[in-house]
Parts: sequence; C-alpha cells; structure tokens
Amino acid sequence: MIIRKFRASDAVAVARMHRGTIRKINSKDYSKKQIEVWSGRTNAKKFRGSMKSHIQFVAVDKGRIIGLGGFRKDGKFNSLYVHHKYIGKGAGKRLLSKMEREALKMGFKKFTVNSSLTAKNFYQSQGYRVIRKTLFKRPQLILEVYKMEKKLRSK
Ligand SMILES: CC(C)(COP(=O)(O)OP(=O)(O)OC[C@H]1O[C@@H](n2cnc3c(N)ncnc32)[C@H](O)[C@@H]1OP(=O)(O)O)[C@@H](O)C(=O)NCCC(=O)NCCS
Repeated sequence: MIIRKFRASDAVAVARMHRGTIRKINSKDYSKKQIEVWSGRTNAKKFRGSMKSHIQFVAVDKGRIIGLGGFRKDGKFNSLYVHHKYIGKGAGKRLLSKMEREALKMGFKKFTVNSSLTAKNFYQSQGYRVIRKTLFKRPQLILEVYKMEKKLRSK
C-alpha cells in the first residue's frame, strides 16, 4: 500500500469508494434515509473541484484506490474514508498520519474532526479526544457526530 497525493484522475474511483463505504460501513450507525442522502451527495466532480481548496491523499493498493483523507488548506479537517473491503488493514491510520504531518508542516497546531459515530473509536485510538456530541447539518441531512480534537506534534 502506498499513500500519495490525490490526482484529478482518481476522482471517479474515490467517489465510488466513498459512496460504498457510507452505504456498507456507516449504515450500521445511521438510518436508511440518512445513508441515502449522505451517499448521494458525493460525486467525482466534487472531488475534482475540491483540489483547489483541499490537501487530499489517497491510499493505493495494487493500483486500486482504497482510501481517501483530506483537509482544507485553511487547516480544517475534512474527510477520511477507507474502502469497505479494506477496513482494519491500516490504511486509515496511514492516511491520518500523513495528513497530520502535512498539516504540521503547514503550521497548523491541531485538528478538529466531526467524527461519524462509526469512526469515534478509531480516532480515539489515534489520540483524538471527544469534545462533545453534536449535529452535522447539510441540506436535507442531519448526522449525529462527535466533535473531536488532537494537538498536532512532530514525532
Ligand atoms: C474510520 C476509518 C477511516 C478507519 O480506517 P481503517 O483503515 O479501518 O483503520 P486502521 O486499520 O488504520 O486502524 C487503525 C487503528 O485504529 C483501530 N480501529 C479502527 N477502527 C476501529 C474501531 N471501529 N473501533 C476501535 N478501534 C478501531 C484499529 O484497531 C487500529 O489500531 P492499532 O493501530 O492499534 O492496530 C474507516 O474504518 C472508515 O472508513 N470508516 C467509515 C467511514 C467513516 O466513518 N469515516 C470517518 C468520517 S469522519
């Protein structure tokens, strides 16, 4: 597995992976309606469009995109998703660590994450602490999430 910068040509595979993960993994913690709207919001054009404003990395295994992690250039954590068939194999940890190192290099001192209910224990295992439970709101979509935070330090 390698971690590298997201390229425009990854967008279709990333959008497919993102949709699949929401439908197959996050579906255990959210309603059918929430999953339908959430997974329906993702598309390749959005990922291509986000290149100007975001720093994004992909995990690639044998030529296949198996994960995406990204944050906005203003330091705001944005997303971390692993392909549903590759959960628990270390891709999430590697992507997160790459994002943290990159953010540190850019001068950011902490990451604040709106973690899905599904990912809370993962983030805790990576040194994030829960600040509070809150609601993530988008048109037609409200998700319960945990606001979590970690101070970034060089290792
Ligand atoms: C959360 C997610 C990104 C983690 O990626 P992953 O590749 O499955 O996790 P890793 O294999 O890198 O796990 C790293 C560590 O976290 C732990 N971990 C992972 N998921 C865990 C969970 N649900 N509960 C407890 N620990 C967990 C692992 O045991 C591992 O510990 P170790 O380093 O001591 O071995 C992935 O499971 C995912 O895509 N989930 C669904 C999408 C999602 O909710 N994303 C977050 C949106 S904010």
